[in-house]
Amino acid sequence: MPQAAQPNVSPQTLDIRPVAGALGAEIHGVDLSAELSEETAVEIRQALLDHLVIFFRDQDITPEHHLAFGRHFGDVLEYPLIKGLEGFPEIMTVVKLENEKLNFGGLWHSDTTYLEEPPMGSILVARELPPQGGDTIFANMYLAYEMLSEAMQKMLDPLKGISVSNLPKVTATRDERARVSGTIAPETVLKATHPVVRTHPETGRKLLYVNGGHTLKFEGMSEEESAPLLEYLFEHQTRPEFTCRFAWQPGSIAFWDNRCTQHLPVNDYHGYKRVMHRITLAGGKPA
Ligand code: SIN
Repeated sequence: MPQAAQPNVSPQTLDIRPVAGALGAEIHGVDLSAELSEETAVEIRQALLDHLVIFFRDQDITPEHHLAFGRHFGDVLEYPLIKGLEGFPEIMTVVKLENEKLNFGGLWHSDTTYLEEPPMGSILVARELPPQGGDTIFANMYLAYEMLSEAMQKMLDPLKGISVSNLPKVTATRDERARVSGTIAPETVLKATHPVVRTHPETGRKLLYVNGGHTLKFEGMSEEESAPLLEYLFEHQTRPEFTCRFAWQPGSIAFWDNRCTQHLPVNDYHGYKRVMHRITLAGGKPA
């Protein structure tokens, strides 16, 4: 259950600054290491619904603060494929080491859509950054849907997509971590069927819900039949005008609505280490 905010804590005044035309806002004026008031938690949730991904700067938070912040917005889940941080199983370390070539999740995706109930959101905290590079780009899936022609929208509306956990291009990005701290047998495939166009449960808006990281095919069609249209949608949904780009600094945090966004961590810092802590929040069955 979402953690109740403390009623006797004073609200903090949020200063919300959009960072791009499509999505994304930085929120200033809040200290996430302090207890959040109920009003502040409600305002942050509203900012997330309005901007789809919200960013905080100059925060100094421990893993305990990270979890406590997340619990204001939902139950915190364990990542299904890789063991969490020692003592904090719900916190996953997203890491690329100096000698590695691929970065974890280094392609456009929304998190774990191969689950029957994919997370509503993820909260990522920067722990160790390369001297430059390692930004994350986010894309707005409401816009991706709305900018399709009416005829294409009508065609997609009744379709379902099948997501799997083992598309080769994504498993390659987590092989190293899975080898060291994997939690399920490598041959296990997680699979879920979701609407291609889903309605956001809180905003009521329709959005495009396929992603290049996990969507294998349309239900009832072969992979070959699905590929041309899926390829078109993967390309379309990450057009620059649907995106914003976040340059991390020490103390930065990103909180994205995983139901209506996708993200791409940019792999442009070879030879340097990047370490992030991620938690994901329980979501419902897409409809
Ligand atoms: C992820 O959660 O997919 C990783 C995002 C990032 O490393 O920026």
